[in-house]
Amino acid sequence: MNSLEGKVVIVTGAGAGIGKASAVEFGLKKCKVIIVDNDKESGEVSKKLIEDSGGEATFINADITVEKDIKNMVEKVLGKYARIDILVNNVGLFNNSGMDATVEEWNEVVRANIISPFLCTKYCLPTMKENRAGAVVNVASISGFIAQENYLLYNTTKGAMINMTRCMALDLGKYNIRVNNVCPGTVWTENNEYFIKKSHNIDKRGADLHSDFGGGNMLSRVSEPKEIAKCIVFLASEDASFVTAENLVVDAGYIAK
Ligand SMILES: NC(=O)c1ccc[n+]([C@@H]2O[C@H](COP(=O)([O-])OP(=O)(O)OC[C@H]3O[C@@H](n4cnc5c(N)ncnc54)[C@H](O)[C@@H]3O)[C@@H](O)[C@H]2O)c1
Repeated sequence: MNSLEGKVVIVTGAGAGIGKASAVEFGLKKCKVIIVDNDKESGEVSKKLIEDSGGEATFINADITVEKDIKNMVEKVLGKYARIDILVNNVGLFNNSGMDATVEEWNEVVRANIISPFLCTKYCLPTMKENRAGAVVNVASISGFIAQENYLLYNTTKGAMINMTRCMALDLGKYNIRVNNVCPGTVWTENNEYFIKKSHNIDKRGADLHSDFGGGNMLSRVSEPKEIAKCIVFLASEDASFVTAENLVVDAGYIAK
């Protein structure tokens, strides 16, 4: 039996990319996986993927930028399992308006990247506090440590998430709740494949070599979603029992170079 077996895990944005890969990894560890996504079709696909490999999954169709949806989502999970052990705050909104950004854009990105993960954590806390155990993994980004052209809103909010995690970890340590960040470099998700093709006219091999992506790191390749998912699972597991307020940078040395 692994330390994650039977744990109730919520993964936001688990219909695609890193969230989907994480949900699958938690399923393989025999967790009870809650897939939260605002896209019904992709959420159902992730659920089926986990069930087809023998795992247990529930799909909740919710927009995690809406407080009422978060409340309902947490109530549904507690109604079914009466506990929540792990929360992965994975949804994140990209924006490349830079200095042209409007107040509306700022509000949207701050809401998705800061306020929503805060609210998801807040509503999961009562059960975690009661059990005196919990792990929250926030999916930040290497963009939270560096400046990138026209990434103003995204990088500012990911930087804020990095320090929000430290503050949460400080407040929640006394309840034995750990809070950490995973900070990925470029991941070859379905969405990145589409956007990088559109913006740079390159395929995966091209992205592996391009200096903005894989070419800028020490392994000269972009990562697979699964490689990030395994780090998320590690931070959520008992293997990381003495790790809190930490950033696990998963970028093949991009920001160290
Ligand atoms: N992909 C990368 O290269 C990369 C790099 C660093 C950090 N990150 C971070 O990783 C996280 C996941 O990124 P990804 O690229 O895997 O995402 P993605 O775009 O591939 O998938 C996001 C999923 O979240 C769902 N979603 C979006 N908004 C939602 C909402 N309001 N409520 C519920 N579900 C919603 C989408 O339907 C989709 O299924 C983000 O926080 C992102 O900033 C990604």
